[in-house]
Amino acid sequence: MTAVVVLPPTSRLPSIKALGTIPVGLLHEAIQYLQAIYNPEICGSRRVSRGACRKERPTHNTDTGLCDTTLSWEAVRADAFEHAHAIRWLTALIAQATTHADADAVETLVQSAAALLAICAGAASAGTRTRTYAFSGSVRVQLTDVALRNDDFESVGAQTWGSACVLAEMIVEEPARFGLGGGPPDAAPAMVRVLELGAGTGLVSLTIGKILDRCGRAEIVASDFHPLALENLRLNIENNNPCHDSCGLPLVSAHFLDWQEAADPANALEAPFDVPFDEVFGADVIYEVEHAAWISACLRRLVRMTGRFHLVIPIREGFARESTAIERLFPRVEDMHRVEPTLCITQKESIICEAEPDGAAGSRGGVEYAHYTIQWTDGRYGQPTGLHEE
Ligand SMILES: C[S@@+](CC[C@H](N)C(=O)[O-])C[C@H]1O[C@@H](n2cnc3c(N)ncnc32)[C@H](O)[C@@H]1O
Repeated sequence: MTAVVVLPPTSRLPSIKALGTIPVGLLHEAIQYLQAIYNPEICGSRRVSRGACRKERPTHNTDTGLCDTTLSWEAVRADAFEHAHAIRWLTALIAQATTHADADAVETLVQSAAALLAICAGAASAGTRTRTYAFSGSVRVQLTDVALRNDDFESVGAQTWGSACVLAEMIVEEPARFGLGGGPPDAAPAMVRVLELGAGTGLVSLTIGKILDRCGRAEIVASDFHPLALENLRLNIENNNPCHDSCGLPLVSAHFLDWQEAADPANALEAPFDVPFDEVFGADVIYEVEHAAWISACLRRLVRMTGRFHLVIPIREGFARESTAIERLFPRVEDMHRVEPTLCITQKESIICEAEPDGAAGSRGGVEYAHYTIQWTDGRYGQPTGLHEE
C-alpha cells in the first residue's frame, strides 16, 4: 500500500472564507480527505496473530491488516482542535452551498458533507452509520449499521461485530479453505450453497457474494430472526448490488430463520432451508447459554454430510459458559468414538486482534477470537465423512 502524506485539516482544507469560489471537484476531494480521517474504511480486522489452539499463546507475527499510515491518521483523528476545525468547515460548506457559483453541482456534495458532519458531531454513534470494509485491497463491502434499540436487547444484529470482520477477512485471504472457488482452473466452477446463521448486517454473506461473483456459482442465504436486522440486511444487500445468477436470481438473499424453531425436528423447514447447505457460516452467534444447543440441533438439519460449519466467536470475559458449551456439544474429532456420523470440531484456531479505536462494535479494547471448523465425522474411520469417496 502506498504511503499517503497525512496533513491536519487546518493545513489540508481550502479556507472557509473562500468556499464559495472553490471548484466543486476540489471540495469533493476535501470531503473525501475528511472522510479518510473521521469515517475511514475498515482495513481488515486489525489481526496481530493467528494460530492453531495450543496451551501456549500463538507467536506474534507482522501481519497487522492495517493501512500503512494508520498511526498518522490516528494522531490527526485524536486532535480535538483539528476535529473542531473539521466541524466548522463542514458546517460552513453546507451553509454556503446555495450561494456557490455552481449551486447545482454542490447538491451531492452537501449530502456527503451532512453525513460526515453527523459522524464528526457524534450523532452517528447514536444512529445510522455507513462504512466501507476493505479486505486485502480487493474486496469492498459497504455496510450500514442502524441504532440498537435500548428497549430490545435482541436487536444486536443491527450492528456489525468484530467476529464478522475477522471471518470475512479469513475468507477473502483463503476462499478455497472455506469451499469457495479454488477448483482446477479449467474445470467448470462447482455450484455451492452457502448459509449464514445470525447474519446481522450481512458482512460475511456479502463478502462471499463478492468473491463468488468472480470465481464460482452459488446461492448465498443470509438468515436472521430479528425484524430490524432483517430489514437492514435487505438494504445492505441491495446497496452492494451483488450480481444475479443465470436465472436472474440474486446471489445473496435474506431470509427469516429462528434457531430455536429450526432446532425442533417437528417444525418443517421451508425453502431455501429444505435442502442442506455445503458451507454454513456463523459470526458471534453464541452469546446466550441456549444458543450452542439450538445451533447444534439446526446444523444437524442444515449441513450436508460433506458440508462444514465455520464459526468465529469472541472470547469474552464472563461468557465462559457460552463458549465452553460449544466444546461440550461438538466433540473434538480426536475424541470421537461414536459410530454414527457426528458433527465434530476438526480444527480450532485462536486469532488475536488489536484494539479498534473507532471500528466494529465489540472490538474496542482488543479481543481474542476462536475460529472453529465443524464437520460430520464418522467415528469408524476417525475422519470427516466429507473425505470419504461416496
Ligand atoms: C452478535 S450478533 C452478530 C451479527 C453478525 N453475525 C456479526 O457478527 O456482525 C448475533 C446475531 O444473531 C442473531 N440471532 C440471535 N438469536 C437468534 C435466533 N434465535 N435465531 C436466529 N438468529 C438469531 C441476532 O439477530 C444477530 O443478528
